[in-house]
Amino acid sequence: MGAESSHKQLRSASCSVGEDKTRQDTLYFDSYSDVTIHEEMIADNVRTNTYRTAIFRNSESIRGKVVLDVGAGTGVLSIFCAQAGAKKVYAVEACSIAEQAMEIVKQNNVEDRVEVIRGTVETVELPEKVEVIVSEWMGYALLHESMLNSVLYARDRWLKAGGLILPSRAELYITPISDPVVEDRLYFWYTVKDQYGVDMSCMSDFARRCIKNSDITVSTVAVEDVLSHPARFAELDLHSVTAEELRTVKGRFRCESFGSAAVNAFCVYFTVTFPCSDKPQSLVLSTSPFKPETHWKQAVLYLDFPVEVVQDTLVSGEVSMFPSEDSSRHICIHVDYTVGEKKIQSKTFSIPDWTADSQP
Ligand SMILES: C[S@@+](CC[C@H](N)C(=O)[O-])C[C@H]1O[C@@H](n2cnc3c(N)ncnc32)[C@H](O)[C@@H]1O
Repeated sequence: MGAESSHKQLRSASCSVGEDKTRQDTLYFDSYSDVTIHEEMIADNVRTNTYRTAIFRNSESIRGKVVLDVGAGTGVLSIFCAQAGAKKVYAVEACSIAEQAMEIVKQNNVEDRVEVIRGTVETVELPEKVEVIVSEWMGYALLHESMLNSVLYARDRWLKAGGLILPSRAELYITPISDPVVEDRLYFWYTVKDQYGVDMSCMSDFARRCIKNSDITVSTVAVEDVLSHPARFAELDLHSVTAEELRTVKGRFRCESFGSAAVNAFCVYFTVTFPCSDKPQSLVLSTSPFKPETHWKQAVLYLDFPVEVVQDTLVSGEVSMFPSEDSSRHICIHVDYTVGEKKIQSKTFSIPDWTADSQP
């Protein structure tokens, strides 16, 4: 996925084996010091508008209260909270984008209430505890970047008992898909002879190894390629989940195929949910292929070989997500699965190394 969008490259600064956590964090925070990634996030109106709506719908709980924005970036969520009536917002941001956040806060005349603090949330000292934590911490497949650990740290250190966390819940889903594009790419090598008189069909196996590797591919899944209702395999309650529990997030799934097709991948995506004090229903930010596209797209896990299904064929198994041994900010996804009567298969996927060098 070398030709992926700048966003992924920027958000996925990685280290090789053995590089320590400090170096990993430096690369990670450097990736947030450029404008491109903030442009992409702010321009994602599903993301930004859902946070805005959620903050305004919770204005009863925010008005007159103290808020902590974990990883404030440009300060957009902090300013939403000030606009919703917060008495004070601590906008904590580790990287140099904090300087732009300070300017934006001034430009919006909220510097009396929004205080931008440059530093990691794990190291800064706040003068008081807070009633509300807001944070946009989600990475690809939810857990890439491991920023949720920082939110949990902030919760345990700075949130008053009974405080509000926005969002307060996250859920992970999986569904089998049939992606015709990759099969067409493999078949392409059989067509070369007709075009040029040179038989390149032996490239097909090599192409399969290159394309259907163990990378987590971040791309948009077309609705028509989804082969069953998605199955939820994990749920995280942000009020109670612990860093220890995040070391492996796993769950079982059962999907029944809509019809005849060849399963050649799984699609993993997430939702996060905001409670809404003034509405009976909560607000959901969804990255489902059935919902409007976000910059997170979907995580696609290609199987080595397609498996045929017919209507109601059961595709079931277990998904485990855990940080890579090489870099704790890189997520791995292991899937054990069976399709119909076939024997159990396993494959482990990881986010490829997009380095800072590949930034535009
Ligand atoms: C996904 S961005 C969200 C930025 C902004 N809140 C928004 O919604 O546009 C996450 C931000 O959190 C910052 N960040 C990540 N971990 C942090 C930590 N432990 N302490 C402080 N900032 C952190 C990153 O540098 C990045 O700017």
